[in-house]
Amino acid sequence: MTDTTTPAAGGNEPAKAWSGRFTEPVSDLVKRYTASVSFDQRMAGQDIRGSLAHAKMLARQGIIAAADLADIERGMAQILGEIERGEFAWNLDDEDVHLNIERRLTALVGDAGKRLHTGRSRNDQVATDIRLWLRDAIDQILVLIDEFQANLLDIAEAHAGTPMPGFTHLQVAQPVTFGHHLMAYHEMSRRDAERFADCRKRVNRLPLGAAALAGTSYPIDREFVAAELGFDEVCHNSLDAVSDRDFAIEFCAAAALLMTHLSRLSEELILWMSPRVGFIDLADRFCTGSSIMPQKKNPDVPELVRGKTGRVNGSLVALLTLMKGQPLAYNKDNQEDKEPLFDTADTVVDTLRIYADMITGIRVKADAMRGALTQGYATATDLADYLVKKGLPFRDAHEAVALAVRAADVKGCDLPQFSLDELRIAMAHVPGAAERLGEDVFGVLTVEGSLASRKHVGGTAPDQVRAAVARARKLRA
Ligand code: ARG
Repeated sequence: MTDTTTPAAGGNEPAKAWSGRFTEPVSDLVKRYTASVSFDQRMAGQDIRGSLAHAKMLARQGIIAAADLADIERGMAQILGEIERGEFAWNLDDEDVHLNIERRLTALVGDAGKRLHTGRSRNDQVATDIRLWLRDAIDQILVLIDEFQANLLDIAEAHAGTPMPGFTHLQVAQPVTFGHHLMAYHEMSRRDAERFADCRKRVNRLPLGAAALAGTSYPIDREFVAAELGFDEVCHNSLDAVSDRDFAIEFCAAAALLMTHLSRLSEELILWMSPRVGFIDLADRFCTGSSIMPQKKNPDVPELVRGKTGRVNGSLVALLTLMKGQPLAYNKDNQEDKEPLFDTADTVVDTLRIYADMITGIRVKADAMRGALTQGYATATDLADYLVKKGLPFRDAHEAVALAVRAADVKGCDLPQFSLDELRIAMAHVPGAAERLGEDVFGVLTVEGSLASRKHVGGTAPDQVRAAVARARKLRA
């Protein structure tokens, strides 16, 4: 974010909220080093919401007068308008979003503004603001995951019966359908959504009332503030309330996994789009050309998703490292929680938005997918299973088919291109194999036969893929 702060406004207000204690001002470098307003101003909406709930509670409890509350509400409404219109003068001298807003409030409404901070500290204030901010971010991410899933389900359904090679070790393994392959990513995104929803429960607890660290001597009503702000409960220990950032780490961990999933899908899209594979094409709006090679169409968007996963993983490690050495309770270190957190949420939001659209622009080249299935003996396991079903022990069947694959390699053909006699000769060294082969073996050597036979829950049979899509749609409804 660009630094929109302006130099000190001057005037007769003290330069700092605690300046009476000090005999000299901080240097400009220290001021810049310690300030967070350039990045925490994006929590202004949450800061105002939190302050209004706090002020309402103070008035209800008789800690401030009703007239003070009215002044605070009037001032905050104006400040919110100024911020929304981009007219608010963020000031580096006021260090962070909290002090900037409080200073402006006091300028607008006088003593009532100075009473707002009664029974509160920036320590419980900032912890509250981040939780409110993160709760909004999680809700947005959950909606975006849902949109991504809806689009994924549509393509998976459309390709429930489109055969492609399934790979292990990036070698052709067994036939699967493209729809089945995509549904694997749907499963991952379902777990992602579960993780964010679960993390939200621990985000949604109210620190306010913990004050600096030990609570406050005013007769506050924390439950009221929690209800006002939509928190499920209050944080139960004041020291923990101001120093806990577990919820931020959990969020970043959930984000890192989500990005890991999308990075893996990106890697596949990139691979599939390479002319050497040619399984898909991506819509032009997600690709760019080369400044020197006129023929190039590069999958820049999936490449960047793969690349941005690094910064999200980095943020998780940054937050874990931020917390590991901190004694209780609040330390200024915690100010460093925001940039990784904001960057992570921004990256996830943008990535999901782009992905939901990008997957609708995938053009499937079904012929190329099917063509790849004829290179790599994709139905070899089906042949072994056929022999087992005819009574041959699996290890013998495995060996018999291995011999058939070697013979096919020598001949330069795929298994279904052998005649029955050729297959029998190839397996001759495994006792009991050749005589178990019948004409019906060619049924299992076809891609369609292989796919259709995997008809249990979670299998790749086209009907099962359609059922999986239907199940997923029902869960969403
Ligand atoms: N800007 C600070 C932060 O992000 C707010 C809390 C400051 N508290 C303090 N005791 N200095 O954490």
